[in-house]
Amino acid sequence: MEYNKEYFKGKTYNITTFGCQMNEHDSERISYLLEEMGYTKTSDRDSADFILFNTCLVRENAELRLFGQVGSLKQLKRKHPDKILSVSGCMMQTTKARHIIEEKYPEVDIVFGTKNIDLLPELIRRHLEKNERVIDISTMYPKEDFVEYNNSNNFQAYVNIMRGCNNFCSYCIVPYSRGREESRRPYAIIEEVENLVNNGYKEITLLGQNVNSYGNTTDFSATFPQLLDRIAKIDGLSRLRFTTSHPKDLSDELIEVMKNNDNICNYFHLPLQSGSDKVLKDMNRHYDRQKYMEKVAKLRKAIPNIAISTDIIVGYPTETEEDFKETLDLCDKVKFDSAYTFIYSKRPGTKAAKLETIDKDIIQDRFDRLLDHLYPVFFEKNKEYVGKTVKVLFESVSKNNDEFLSGRTDTFKLVHAKADESLIGKIVDVKITGNTSFTLEGELV
Ligand code: SAH
Ligand code: SF4
Ligand code: F3S
Repeated sequence: MEYNKEYFKGKTYNITTFGCQMNEHDSERISYLLEEMGYTKTSDRDSADFILFNTCLVRENAELRLFGQVGSLKQLKRKHPDKILSVSGCMMQTTKARHIIEEKYPEVDIVFGTKNIDLLPELIRRHLEKNERVIDISTMYPKEDFVEYNNSNNFQAYVNIMRGCNNFCSYCIVPYSRGREESRRPYAIIEEVENLVNNGYKEITLLGQNVNSYGNTTDFSATFPQLLDRIAKIDGLSRLRFTTSHPKDLSDELIEVMKNNDNICNYFHLPLQSGSDKVLKDMNRHYDRQKYMEKVAKLRKAIPNIAISTDIIVGYPTETEEDFKETLDLCDKVKFDSAYTFIYSKRPGTKAAKLETIDKDIIQDRFDRLLDHLYPVFFEKNKEYVGKTVKVLFESVSKNNDEFLSGRTDTFKLVHAKADESLIGKIVDVKITGNTSFTLEGELV
């Protein structure tokens, strides 16, 4: 049998993506490769001929969800042995998680990692030819770094500027799954963004685990602020975003570049993790609460309407009640626009995994108290928008009401407004009429 485009014509694929934007972007690449082979996409997972789970292991519940979902497909695979079941992503980069899939889930046909995505077509053919399971985890990225992928729409795109992470925060598994930091060459990134903009893309999000350390470990000299400034100058680019920034590397130069380029969005995601100096030190974060607050103050001084969001971990093993109160205090002082809050999850292999964990009930109580501090502030921050007219990039039909569209301000506020579908992908003036802690409601002007 020849496994060419003809063979795959009419066959369908479905991808379930866990985790962060890096994984979402990897799934966009995988989607491109599958469609090149002849597959078409379906949103009905169980009907698909190729079913993929692109995994994350940053917290334990992401892992448990994966095992639950793969396990639930046992029956389906028994009934339809011709379906190909595949698992990829960060979980497969660690031997432990991979071995669980290898040993307990024989129905999984193809396993690959984050570094050998480009091999997928070959792995599928190998699986079909030999009718056996294929496990391939390369440790080297392909040399080629200008790659093609399918975007989820035709106005927003993710662009990788670096991969991996060198920070080794004591709780975090990412450096073990994604490997050491590698920055892409500036010309390749610029060329990629130029192509997207020429094809009508309005909003670009630059991706990296720690974008501020772009260029630190390379043979070329380029810093993140320089790269950002150069990209912002690309003619026709309406909105430029980036994620994620580590506070220790957030420079004055970066703030200057943001201030001087109108198309760089007035939004900053700056993960705090903890407001206690002791815990920050234990976490190996290389900043203290004072430094964090200084950076926020500088950002707000340079860009008065900037929105700032953060990540916070509750219940790190060395966190005492006093330490936790420091986190509450810092949140009260900084006044975040939004925050992603996480309960500490022990990740085997990390430095913090050796420490004894805190009682679950204590952590849950702290977590609830944290939200009680954060949500009223989110509400107040959003309320400041009521009565103002803002520019919104409409992204989709609203999930709750199909007469409404959902979109974002440049400050990343989620806005719902009654509008026609034809406005999806357009940047439109919206007058804000109401708010909750998490959303704004408005009317077209
Ligand atoms: N590189 C990014 C974050 C990647 S992970 C950064 O440093 O900002 C996203 C968030 O997950 C982290 O900011 C952290 O808040 C959370 N996280 C990571 N490991 C965790 C763990 N073991 N338990 C709970 N939350 C964790
Ligand atoms: Fe993890 Fe820290 Fe790297 Fe972020 S910077 S990916 S939290 S090790
Ligand atoms: Fe998860 Fe991997 Fe991202 S572990 S958070 S998908 S880098």
